[in-house]
Amino acid sequence: MNQSKCRVGVKLRSLLEAINEEPFGTAFIENEQDVLVGIITDGDFRRMLLNGKELDDTIEKEDLSSFISANKGEDFDKLIAKTNHKINIIPIVGKNGELVDYFEYKHKTKFTPVAEPTLENRELEYLLDAFKSTWISSRGKYIDRFEAEFASFCSTKCGVATSNGTVAIHLALVALGIGEGDEVIIPDLTFAATINAVLYANATPVIVDVDPITWTIFPEEIEKAITSKTKAIIPVHVYGQSCEMDKIMHLANKHNLKVVEDCAEAHGAEFKGQKVGSFGDIATFSFFANKIITTGEGGMCVTNSEELDTKMRKLRDHGMSKEKRYWHDEIGFNYRMTNLQAAIGCAQLEKIEWILDRNDQIERDYIKHLDHLNLFKWQKTYRQNRKVVWLMSCLTEKRSEVMDKLKENNIDVRPFFFCLSEMPIYSKYKFSNRNALVISKRGINLPTVKNVDYENVANILSTI
Ligand SMILES: Cc1ncc(COP(=O)(O)O)c(C=O)c1O
Repeated sequence: MNQSKCRVGVKLRSLLEAINEEPFGTAFIENEQDVLVGIITDGDFRRMLLNGKELDDTIEKEDLSSFISANKGEDFDKLIAKTNHKINIIPIVGKNGELVDYFEYKHKTKFTPVAEPTLENRELEYLLDAFKSTWISSRGKYIDRFEAEFASFCSTKCGVATSNGTVAIHLALVALGIGEGDEVIIPDLTFAATINAVLYANATPVIVDVDPITWTIFPEEIEKAITSKTKAIIPVHVYGQSCEMDKIMHLANKHNLKVVEDCAEAHGAEFKGQKVGSFGDIATFSFFANKIITTGEGGMCVTNSEELDTKMRKLRDHGMSKEKRYWHDEIGFNYRMTNLQAAIGCAQLEKIEWILDRNDQIERDYIKHLDHLNLFKWQKTYRQNRKVVWLMSCLTEKRSEVMDKLKENNIDVRPFFFCLSEMPIYSKYKFSNRNALVISKRGINLPTVKNVDYENVANILSTI
């Protein structure tokens, strides 16, 4: 701090050096008796130059205007009260007016989260209705309604609501008879829930590479990984992008494999005009709070098969016989969703198209404001498909710099998932992973919420 002190009569050049010493860009001016007589910020300096001063001129008393200071020992609340959006440095003076310290107040900028649920009056209305009905566990009108309406949204016949998206995958695998000794092909770039569910079913995951352009499971790699033990494929519509379902279904039919689509991140996405979730034997969704629509925690299995629907309902409810209460002829689970969660889900579903349009607009706004920086490669969209925006996803070779700068400015960002094959507990299941490694290391999710200050984000990133 000593270096930022100057005496009256100092040359502007030395003053500039003093201002430059301190990160907050302020110099303290004392007189011959060591009394603080002024403070000069870099803004004041700029104005002096504009008013005709030159670097070899000196600073005199007339150049100094009044300033706010505090006395040594003054309490914190009083110090804070002296700050405002323009004044954030308060010099602290001793008994004789000498500078002893200074107080700096950093105005904290508003935190921008990476995702947030859009909860409004309708969610509260339905939730209260379910609450007042006293049907707060896993039966009630909202469960039936949410299952029927969500299945219809996916263009499927049946929906079985579950307590989360992970158990939905497990339930689907068990209902399809996948178990010990069976191989299940999954992509390397996905959240760990996909592989964990295969392991819960005691099956063997086979991790294959993804397409470098779409980031979704690579059909050519699936074909290479098929063995006599392969029983199922789990295509994951990762970051809102649909997998190549025509090629995947062709392979599944050719090799007699089951298909469980993991649609946790892609509600509403389409492949060649057909909704994801309606291609495979069963498709699973997540309604976790950061997902496109949410029920807090929650999930759903959708299917066109009434037989699988009946099977999943039974397994979801401890394997209890539908005809004979408390009679169990297979080991099931408690994977039920509550009526309270489903009430929120019904309200969310009413505005899903609005949420999807808003997220598309967020993506367009990012591209408009950040494209010129040449920092990002945006997620590719194929015209015949409908990619949905779950979290704004892009690739950058400067990932750590981008993340550090945004986090310094209170803007939340997320790296992509680590590749499953990179993690020691899963690496033994690796088949191929070349493209996934590159995408995972460069991928980043930017805040996908309302009120993103795109210009601010662009300014922050322009320094990279
Ligand atoms: C691809 C994928 N599958 C499954 C899940 C699991 O969903 P849940 O968190 O509801 O268990 C997630 C959740 O983030 C996911 O991203």
